[in-house]
Parts: sequence; structure tokens; C-alpha cells
Amino acid sequence: MGRVALITGITGQDGSYLSELLLNKGYTVHGIKRRSSSFNTERIDGLDLHPRHPDARLFLHYSDLADPGSLTSLLRDIQPDEVYNLGAQSHVRVSFDIPGYTADVTGVGAIRMLEATRVADVNCRFYQASSSEMFGSTPPPQHEDTPFHPRSPYACAKVYAYWSAVNYRESYGMYCANGILFNHESPRRGENFVTRKITRAVARIEAGIQDKLYLGNLDAIRDWGYAPEYVEAMWLALQQDKPNDYVVATGEGHTVREFVAAAFDHVGLDWQKYVVTDPIYFRPAEVDALIGDYRKARQSLGWAPKTLFADLVRVMVDADRHLLEDERMGRLVRVDR
Ligand code: NAP
Ligand code: GDD
Repeated sequence: MGRVALITGITGQDGSYLSELLLNKGYTVHGIKRRSSSFNTERIDGLDLHPRHPDARLFLHYSDLADPGSLTSLLRDIQPDEVYNLGAQSHVRVSFDIPGYTADVTGVGAIRMLEATRVADVNCRFYQASSSEMFGSTPPPQHEDTPFHPRSPYACAKVYAYWSAVNYRESYGMYCANGILFNHESPRRGENFVTRKITRAVARIEAGIQDKLYLGNLDAIRDWGYAPEYVEAMWLALQQDKPNDYVVATGEGHTVREFVAAAFDHVGLDWQKYVVTDPIYFRPAEVDALIGDYRKARQSLGWAPKTLFADLVRVMVDADRHLLEDERMGRLVRVDR
């Protein structure tokens, strides 16, 4: 019998890459999708077969991290070997606009999943998607023992979720692992995160259908890695003899300005002619610098990043150039099952 995984946040960037990884390893994968008035399964549309197809190994279920009853029922029915809690309101800037909702879904949602796992009496390993945002204003390099100083409602919620996972490990002996992941990006990154906003704009400006790119703080430093490699670290975190917490990062920091310059440079354009600073994108409190020390992940998991800054920028810009071409040729089709 192959192993069974349940993923919250399966429709997001990481959920889609993790699904691919697990399906390739022979898992049966169940995922939670939210009810939406428009399609929200675009990132995994290529993976699923009709649920009655004899070869189907990816199954989607309506549920929500705000709805503990459905979470418990699903866990009872599915009896997963591994649970990956990736679901979250994951946008830091937006968390200042909807702090209560972010606390509920990103923070309390994690303890709902943990408690549902406990009361459903499922014998499984639990991965919690923790974040470098928890380090906030504590200066880099940040590692597993660096004190947290969260700077947004999102980061506060992630600190709550992190400690909830540790608490269920210590209280009930559950196998709970936190991956403290630094920023990771890809062509599937949401379009309102800064890297994708930039690469999408570069493709459009090159094609002559956008004039300007409006951005906020260009001085922030982030440690940007490549998402498909980061989901491997998630899986590895659940394959160890004992549960533990791991920083996953590249160890390299770059400013938003450097990302902008590299992306425009890749298509032969001077970014300074197109980028305009707009305070609307400033945050009430900023995280100035995140650079991860991932030595523990390297030593314990055998994990190391392969795709670094320059290649990441190139991959994302080229993907957005191709996507734009597909959109303009009407080659994209969306389906629902
Ligand atoms: P993402 O693309 O924003 O995906 C978030 C996922 O959560 C989506 O599938 C979303 O569903 C789902 N979700 C939102 N609200 C929900 C709710 N109430 N109930 C159930 N599901 C809900 O995020 P990501 O980049 O893949 O990140 C995955 C996880 O890692 C998140 O927890 C994020 O906070 C964390 N993280 C990300 C990074 C990073 O750099 N990417 C770094 C550290 C930690 P819809 O598709 O319906 O919106
Ligand atoms: N989104 C956005 N939009 N950010 C901008 C913009 C803009 O127009 N202009 C400048 N920035 C700056 C932000 O102020 C921040 O300092 C930096 O770009 C990165 O912003 P995001 O891409 O939105 O990511 P984030 O670092 O705030 O959060 C992401 O990484 C976290 C891990 O450190 C998210 O994926 C979180 O969910 C994740 O936990």
C-alpha cells in the first residue's frame, strides 16, 4: 500500500509542487480546497484525473481551516500517514488589513488541524508551514535558535502556529515538525508577491502593454529560493526518526532593488525608466532583512538549495514571457472537476 498524504493549501504555490513531489513518490494525495466563486485550482489542474478514474491518486475535498468539523471528518475518513498544513492567509501586507481573519486562519487554523488530528486519533506525521517572518526584526543570519520578533499580524499568527505544533509534540508525543522556510518563489508564485509582480511586469513592459511598475520598499533584503526545492525539504522533515524544526533557506540576501534590476536587465531594459515608488505598498512595520542559516537542514536532512538568485530571476522572467505569449494567443484553458 502506498502512503497517503493530506495537504491543506494544496491550491497554493507550495501545495501544487508538493502534490507533484508526493504523486511522483507513489503517494495518494488528498487536498483541501476552499469554496470559491471563481476557479482556484489552476496550479494543480494538470495533476488530477476524474475522481472515479481507476488511476486517480489526487483527490480534492471542500473544507476550510475555519471549519473544525469538516477537518475532523476528513481526517477520520482519509487516515493520512502525513499531514502538511500549508493553508494560510499568507500575504504579509494584507494581514494588516484583515488581522482578525489572518489570526483565525493562519494561527488558530493550525491548532484546529492539530486538534482534529488528535481527536480523530490519526497516527500520522504533521508538517507545519512556519515562516522566516517570525524572526521579524531580529537581525540576520537567522537560525532555529534565533529569537522571534514578529512584525505583522501574519507573523504573529505564524508564531502561534509554530508553538502550537511544538506544544502538541511535547504534550501528546505527536510527530510535529516545523519547517521555518525563507521566501521561496517560482513561476507559480501569487502575482501580488513582490518577485512575481516584478517578473510579470517585466514581461508586459517588454511586450509594450504596461508602462510603469509601482512598488513599495526597495531596500528590504530577502533570502529568495526556488519553491520546488523547498517542498523537498518539507517531505524530508517528515522522514526523520524524530520530529524537529528546520530553517530552509539559501543563505544569500538580496534587496528588492537588486531583484528589480536583475529582472529588467534580463530583457535588456533599464529598470529606472519604469519603476515608480508608491507608498501605498509600504507596510506599517517592515521586516528589513531575512537571511537564513540552513546548516541544520543540510546536516540533518541532507538538503541544500540548488537554484540561487540569478537563475531564479531568469527562470521567473522567462516563464512570465511564455505565459504572456500563451495568454495573448488564447492557449490557456481552465477546467474544474
Ligand atoms: P499561497 O500560494 O498563498 O497558498 C496558500 C494556500 O492556503 C492556498 O491554497 C489557499 O487557498 C489556502 N488557504 C487560504 N485560506 C484558507 C482557509 N481559510 N482554509 C483552507 N485553506 C486556505 O502560499 P504558499 O506560498 O504556497 O505558502 C504555503 C504556506 O507556507 C503558507 O502557510 C505560507 O504562509 C507559508 N510560507 C510561505 C513562504 C513562501 O515564501 N512562499 C515562506 C514561508 C512560509 P486558495 O487557493 O483558495 O486561496
Ligand atoms: N508584495 C509586495 N508588493 N511587496 C513589496 C512591494 C510590492 O509592491 N514593493 C516592495 N515590497 C517589499 C515588501 O515590503 C517586503 O519587504 C518584500 O518586498 C517582500 O514582500 P513579499 O513578496 O510580499 O513577501 P514577504 O517577505 O512579505 O512574505 C513572503 O515571505 C514570507 C517568508 O519570509 C510570504 O510568502 C509569506 O507568506 C512568507 O511567510
